[in-house]
Amino acid sequence: MVEVRTARLTLREFVDDDFAAFHAVESDPEVARYQTFPPRTVADCRAYLAGARDDAASSPRRTYDLAIVLAEEDRLIGRCGLGRTDEEPDEALLWYTLLRTEWGRGYATEAARGMLDFGFRDLRLHRIWADCDPANAASFRVLEKIGLRREGHLLENAWIKGAWVDSLVYAILDREWIASPPSPSRLTPDA
Ligand SMILES: CC(C)(COP(=O)(O)OP(=O)(O)OC[C@H]1O[C@@H](n2cnc3c(N)ncnc32)[C@H](O)[C@@H]1OP(=O)(O)O)[C@@H](O)C(=O)NCCC(=O)NCCS
Repeated sequence: MVEVRTARLTLREFVDDDFAAFHAVESDPEVARYQTFPPRTVADCRAYLAGARDDAASSPRRTYDLAIVLAEEDRLIGRCGLGRTDEEPDEALLWYTLLRTEWGRGYATEAARGMLDFGFRDLRLHRIWADCDPANAASFRVLEKIGLRREGHLLENAWIKGAWVDSLVYAILDREWIASPPSPSRLTPDA
């Protein structure tokens, strides 16, 4: 069971009781706007949470899709994850999604920073990368704030919701993360 704590947040495994809060995040069309999938239905959310539980139980574990919880209120406000493949186990894709009413408070930045710490220090990853629609400024701003470098702008590489869209690709290497100032947000005994 993975748990990552930051100054204001706990990133933890999903539990059955998360369904209503998870659905509130994922069914919002604005939240899904730049994602590859449409707003999630009740059935989608149930399947997603079941998948996250399967991922958590798999060995070797490749996907760490964690609930973002406001620590003080013990309230789920989103999710943040790292996913790697069997072919490239030292590299992982980073993602995050937040309840719309909680946007603009630095929570995605804090959660993503916690996941980078977890990925590099605990999983010993070599490279963490992310991609996003160039129109999704809030998303790429988070990546830039946590130190990922823009590596490319892919033209019309993805067919999403009936149209070809571009992607920005961002990444950071373990040595770059280690060389960066220590994260003020991750709460660990050796932080
Ligand atoms: C992307 C997302 C997770 C960001 O969450 P958040 O908690 O609001 O992010 P933060 O507050 O940590 O940082 C957002 C940054 O983007 C900036 N920003 C937000 N909207 C912006 C816009 N339209 N144009 C430019 N910058 C913008 C904010 O000002 C902030 O930067 P700053 O700290 O330099 O001022 C949230 O918008 C979301 O859940 N979107 C829907 C899901 C999604 O698109 N996920 C990413 C898929 S690639």
